[in-house]
Amino acid sequence: MKLKNVTGKITRNQFIYNYRRMWPYVKPYWFRALMSVLLAIPVGSLDAVIALSLKPYMDLVMVEKSIQTAWYIPLAIILFTTIQGGLTYATAYLNTWVGAKITNLLKFDLYQKMLAFETDFFNKRNSGDVIFMFNNNADMACAGLLNNLKTFVQKLFTAISLIGVLFYTSWQLALVCVTVLVVALLPMTSVRRKLNAIMGKSIQADSALLTTYNESFAGNKTIISYNLEECQKEKFNCVLDNVFKLRIKMLQRTRWITPVMHVILSFGIGLAIWFGSYLIISGTITAGAFVSFLTALIMLYTPMKSLGNNFNSVVMAFMAIERVFDILNTTPGIIDRPGARDFDGKMSTITFKDLWFEYVPNVPVLKDINLTARRGETIALVGNSGGGKSTLVGRLPRFYDVTRGAILFDDTDIRDFTLKSLRHHIGVVFQDNFLFSGTIRENIMLGNENATEQELANAVKMAYLDDFIGTLKDGLDTQIGERGILLSGGQKQRVAIARAFLKNAPILILDEATSALDNKAEAVVQKAIENLMHDKTVFVIAHRLSTIRNASKIVVINHGEIVECGTHDELITIENGAYKSLYDMQFKKQGAPA
Ligand SMILES: Nc1ncnc2c1ncn2[C@@H]1O[C@H](COP(=O)(O)OP(=O)(O)O)[C@@H](O)[C@H]1O
Ligand SMILES: [Mg+2]
Repeated sequence: MKLKNVTGKITRNQFIYNYRRMWPYVKPYWFRALMSVLLAIPVGSLDAVIALSLKPYMDLVMVEKSIQTAWYIPLAIILFTTIQGGLTYATAYLNTWVGAKITNLLKFDLYQKMLAFETDFFNKRNSGDVIFMFNNNADMACAGLLNNLKTFVQKLFTAISLIGVLFYTSWQLALVCVTVLVVALLPMTSVRRKLNAIMGKSIQADSALLTTYNESFAGNKTIISYNLEECQKEKFNCVLDNVFKLRIKMLQRTRWITPVMHVILSFGIGLAIWFGSYLIISGTITAGAFVSFLTALIMLYTPMKSLGNNFNSVVMAFMAIERVFDILNTTPGIIDRPGARDFDGKMSTITFKDLWFEYVPNVPVLKDINLTARRGETIALVGNSGGGKSTLVGRLPRFYDVTRGAILFDDTDIRDFTLKSLRHHIGVVFQDNFLFSGTIRENIMLGNENATEQELANAVKMAYLDDFIGTLKDGLDTQIGERGILLSGGQKQRVAIARAFLKNAPILILDEATSALDNKAEAVVQKAIENLMHDKTVFVIAHRLSTIRNASKIVVINHGEIVECGTHDELITIENGAYKSLYDMQFKKQGAPA
């Protein structure tokens, strides 16, 4: 899985491809989207009416003193402005409506994609990057786009109609002024290049800001207990400072365009007055025509001055669209093989065969692991911290795929099963289980959303949660807060165990499920775990060796290698053995006075 550099150069083909891919998102709303842009045409063009009406007004009322025209023209101006106002509202409404719908569709697809990515994808990124990638990019791609496109089209048609007026009133003058206009538009061509260079850095800075917020939220307790407020403030200030500097840099690179266009256009007005006066005096055009011309010219140049900014926004939106599709076009690293079949949960052996694994190329974390578990056995993994125990069991639900070798259920490589069916048949309880904000019931039911009330009650009982739940006013419907913050460690663990109970998967992974608990909480959780282990093939990683004495097989893993394997009774007799020394160490520690 590789993401293209988010702001890197893209070829013309990709460029067109990305916009073609936008179509499915626009398609359901194409009519409204089209209307919102098309309505901008009359809104833009109606600007010309005011300029155009000045010619007959000047010539007929001022020069020929026609009272009829004096009535007729103001009414026409009011009428057209009213129509224009109505249309402006309609385009704004349609624009926002369609824009929001498209953003939602895009965000939904991005979210779906996000859920499909493998653990590694998230491990390698900060939360801020991920939020930016999947949320902010979609906002940037859509929010400004239609609106800016509308403004762009509107201004374009204002320009076209006003240029029409210019040529209608005096083609000689018009030629001069349009040439100036084209020159004034030239600086816009450099926007994309200039933005490209800074955009990547700017996104990084914005992401860092999001990450800081996230860390301050999640790490709140650590921040308080270590008095890290000052340190955090300083870090935050640095990030803000960086965001500020990049904003200014962005401004320096793009905002000069507007004043430069302004100056070039003022040359146009100067030329028009100079050349126009000459044409009036020489009798080529009437004074009315000139006033009309000048009004049209000023009306033409005014929107052009801000067109630069508008164009910047369109370019930025287009760049965000490219980033969005870079993500949507990325294939997640862990997906079903072609022809993968469903695992039905039935197998008699699980074999780790010549298995190697590395997170970082050429740094093997697991080296040539060979291990077989028979159905119903409990395999305990012990060893020094960082030895590779979690890495090994994590290969079963395919958090990552193995680098070499394979895991076989009977004779089938687990990569030949669909991910969904494989994960459906594996239950996991970690040291730190994620609980969602909501009620206890909702969190347990995640194990099996179709469970009956009876099954739920049984899971609660088997997880030794019934006493605790009995003390709660709202019982199972008690809110537990984000990440289950309102529960104690042992309670959280038991909710996770109840969840695994409902899932009732034939393969169970227990990764230090009791390690974070005090002795009293551990005793209850351990009893719950024993209930859970019943009738399952279990891989258990435990800190406290007393809890795994009865395992069918104890595997000692150090530095990614299996150094010993056998029952407790076998291993304890090996003099200077790895298991025996771990056991003795723990026994002495427990035996020693505190
Ligand atoms: N996502 C990761 N990326 C890179 N290295 C990792 C990652 N997770 C774990 N490791 C490394 O792999 C080794 C084994 O870790 P782990 O399986 O968690 O050990 P254990 O569970 O035995 O304590 C450690 O050296 C650890 O630093
Ligand atoms: Mg571990």
